[in-house]
Amino acid sequence: MASQGAILPPHVLIFPMPVQGHVTSMLKLAELLCLSGLDITFMVSDFSYNRLLKHTTVVSRFKQYPGFHFQSITDGLPDDHPRVGEQVVDILTSTKNITGPLFKQMMSEKNLFGSGTRRPITCIIADGVLTFAGDFAEEKGIPLIYFRTISSCSFWASFCIPELIEAGEIFVQGIGMDQLVKSIPGMEGFLRIRDLPSFCRVNDINEPKLHMMKSLTRQTTRAQAAIFNTFEDLEGSIISHIRKHIPKVFTIGPNHSHLKSRLAEKKVDNSVLSGSFWAEDRSCLDWLNAQPSNSVIYVSFGSITVVTREQLLEFWHGLVNSGQRFLWVMRPDSIVGEGVKNQTPIELEEGTKARGYMVGWAPQEEVLNHEAVGGFLTHSGWNSTLESIVVGVPMICWPYFGDQTINSRFVSEGWKIGLDIKDTCDRDIIEKAVKELMEERKDEFLKRSQNVANLARKAVNEGGSSYHNLDALIDYIKTMIV
Ligand code: UDX
Repeated sequence: MASQGAILPPHVLIFPMPVQGHVTSMLKLAELLCLSGLDITFMVSDFSYNRLLKHTTVVSRFKQYPGFHFQSITDGLPDDHPRVGEQVVDILTSTKNITGPLFKQMMSEKNLFGSGTRRPITCIIADGVLTFAGDFAEEKGIPLIYFRTISSCSFWASFCIPELIEAGEIFVQGIGMDQLVKSIPGMEGFLRIRDLPSFCRVNDINEPKLHMMKSLTRQTTRAQAAIFNTFEDLEGSIISHIRKHIPKVFTIGPNHSHLKSRLAEKKVDNSVLSGSFWAEDRSCLDWLNAQPSNSVIYVSFGSITVVTREQLLEFWHGLVNSGQRFLWVMRPDSIVGEGVKNQTPIELEEGTKARGYMVGWAPQEEVLNHEAVGGFLTHSGWNSTLESIVVGVPMICWPYFGDQTINSRFVSEGWKIGLDIKDTCDRDIIEKAVKELMEERKDEFLKRSQNVANLARKAVNEGGSSYHNLDALIDYIKTMIV
């Protein structure tokens, strides 16, 4: 083993929070590391693994990397738990209480996953929200890197919760939502209390969700390093503040675009790695093929957002009244409320026929890259935001929760590549925003989005900041072999 050990590559355990947006971006990270010859064990929940097996070719795709292994484990929730909407946070508790102890047991039974042909784990890259993975790494003395799936601006705002509390800038009754925030270095001038991550909206300052988020974010400092799915030209000024607390920060994103670029460089199939938990309805690509260039607004609220029937109808009226073509993703489990039973209202399906198309789940990266798509009405999830940025598609942001409320402010007022309609769900506002983005200010938004897209692509190509930082991360992981 000792002589073998000298030639065996590092063995990295990657552990995402088991929900779509986190698994997606950490799978891309896994493939990026596989391309550099590292051995990977990817911990995935039974629920996620079954979804991947059913709806994607991810499992067979990774068979091309002999050093890659999936290891599945329970997420601690019953199979019929919805895992969407506000209830998704149950996963934080169940993984801590149930998955964490099982993971520890599994690691000792399997001797940290070492074998004659694989080293025991040499480094853990854990999702930053999985505190138990950090406890385990510390207990066993294994180097730990936290990966954050959220934007750096959202991370930094959460990191500054103690300062926000001190300055009285957390939203509690009596404080104006439109008051400007002064206590987050680097964000003075355009960030309102309304734009802070949604868990900063509390009834009283001792509310547990606020303090849970504070400690979850602050605990990142115990890792040896952190990885962010972003790029320096987009969030470099915010990252410089984070680096004062976490000296080793690797910005390697946008991960999906970086992976495509590295695969192309190695002249291997660089088709999109789809990690979808739902079956992709590819018929929408045929529909898009029949639409004029930049004429369609794509509407999707990611994997967790739920809407009421009333909200849905406001969106529908707003879209139809705008006179624009639209492609709308209506996840089967996304409609909530009395008597709805997750069904799309029939009048909505009927009324869409003239200028719209509706699917349950789309191949989003391909849709956004389609020349017919000229705008994106999004919930501002970080993956969706980056996917839109890379292809220069301007956005209308309707954030649902968490990091999305601050991402949308950066899209509209920071990078000026879209409009933010947070905290409203009104057909007139939606109609006006769609017209503004797709007609009245179309050229202006497309031009600025294209500039940002060029910066994103530059970052992930040879010589770019993310390209360089990924190489530096891999070198760093190699130094962890003792
Ligand atoms: C959540 C958070 O909102 C996000 O900010 C965090 O970084 C991860 O967890 P989610 O709400 O699902 O994720 O949004 P998002 O980050 O945008 O991820 C959704 C993913 O699903 C994207 O990669 C998107 O391409 C994909 N998707 C969505 C599809 O492939 N098809 C669809 O129809 C809709």
